[in-house]
Amino acid sequence: MDHFGYRTGRLYAEDVDLSEVAVRYGTPAYVYSRATIERHWRAFDAALAGVEHLVCYAVKANSNLAVLGLMARLGSGFDIVSVGELERVLAAGGDASKVVFSGVGKREEEMRRALEVGIRCFNVESEPELEHLNRIAGALGMKAPVSLRVNPDVDAGTHPYISTGLKENKFGIDIHQAETVYVRAAEMPHIEISGIDCHIGSQITEVTPFIDALERVLILVDRLYEHGITINHLDLGGGLGITYRDEQPPLPGDYLDPLLKRLAGRGLEVLIEPGRAIIGNAGVLLTRIEYLKHTEHKDFAIVDAAMNDLMRPALYNAWQAIIPVIPRGDIPPRLYDIVGPVCETGDFLGKERELALTEGDLLAVRSAGAYGFTMSSNYNTRPRPVELMVDGDTVHEIRPRERIEELFARERLLP
Ligand code: LLP
Repeated sequence: MDHFGYRTGRLYAEDVDLSEVAVRYGTPAYVYSRATIERHWRAFDAALAGVEHLVCYAVKANSNLAVLGLMARLGSGFDIVSVGELERVLAAGGDASKVVFSGVGKREEEMRRALEVGIRCFNVESEPELEHLNRIAGALGMKAPVSLRVNPDVDAGTHPYISTGLKENKFGIDIHQAETVYVRAAEMPHIEISGIDCHIGSQITEVTPFIDALERVLILVDRLYEHGITINHLDLGGGLGITYRDEQPPLPGDYLDPLLKRLAGRGLEVLIEPGRAIIGNAGVLLTRIEYLKHTEHKDFAIVDAAMNDLMRPALYNAWQAIIPVIPRGDIPPRLYDIVGPVCETGDFLGKERELALTEGDLLAVRSAGAYGFTMSSNYNTRPRPVELMVDGDTVHEIRPRERIEELFARERLLP
């Protein structure tokens, strides 16, 4: 459930009229709802209440400091994939000892910084990475806490670009080789085995792939035990999907209950790394219609947001709901392609949407809280949108709109 909805014919975020937001802050604008974010985070935390656990919010989904600050205040952990994300977490008041570090290509200085601040765990994705980490920790006179990210070879049934748990993917260590790598890790003087990690993909809308992955991981846990290797925590990764259109993903509790059942009695701490399910439906992208263009073949609504602001439709052909901020009953609807001003045919936010529109109308692209702003760019030298956080009847400007001169301020003419 989220806190976006119509009141007296206008779209609200919590107690704030989004048409007023658009006038005050301009468009395009990302608008997030604090109550929605907190509600979703708490749903995961509550679903794990019966076991020792840590919800590690996946920072890549939305890394605005205000968002991370809310998580930190809730007591959240964080899943990071770069030292940049680590510095954000620290700047937002996050606790380093609740940070897990994922990613296939961690660089030396990233590992060093993570060791220095005392992160909770490295999710190691290859044997060379493990050896590298052992060396770096050794040079610092430390032991690096480690989980191996295993690739269980299950089909998450999601878009190929965001499926990560198949053996042809670059992620993790083949589950059949993981045993050997764990045995090697146990012999390394500067590695401390802490857990096992498994993330199979994103926007997963069924429980079965998670269960399949867990069952394979538990077989490995048992085999490691025979080697005298004890696992303290199990990191189940992120990946729970959300409703963009008509998907019916399980609620956090319905996704976690069957997993917890299989873990009963094992005494393992459970970590999860949800991103999209916490923040996806807690944000919209507000945009205004510049022009309506009617051709023989198509009707276009040309809006002021574009693929650089929200890449998911262009990149994955992702469908996100596009709804009017003030629905009108005075004109008949048409089938519109909602397109941006960027010079690419792939620059669309939605295709063939039945909407009653006139120029100047405001639209909201829903489910834009996750992988929206974080994937945005300055393509076509477009300043990125303002980001706003609604909290009750208050709007906080959590990142001002970029100014054009900022976009090339770091560039230099040749002498
Ligand atoms: N943990 C790891 C190791 C990950 O790679 C990811 C996401 C997550 C957690 C969080 O997954 P979530 O709960 O958000 O599904 N840009 C794509 C999604 C890429 C996801 C990458 N990894 C999109 O817009 O659909």
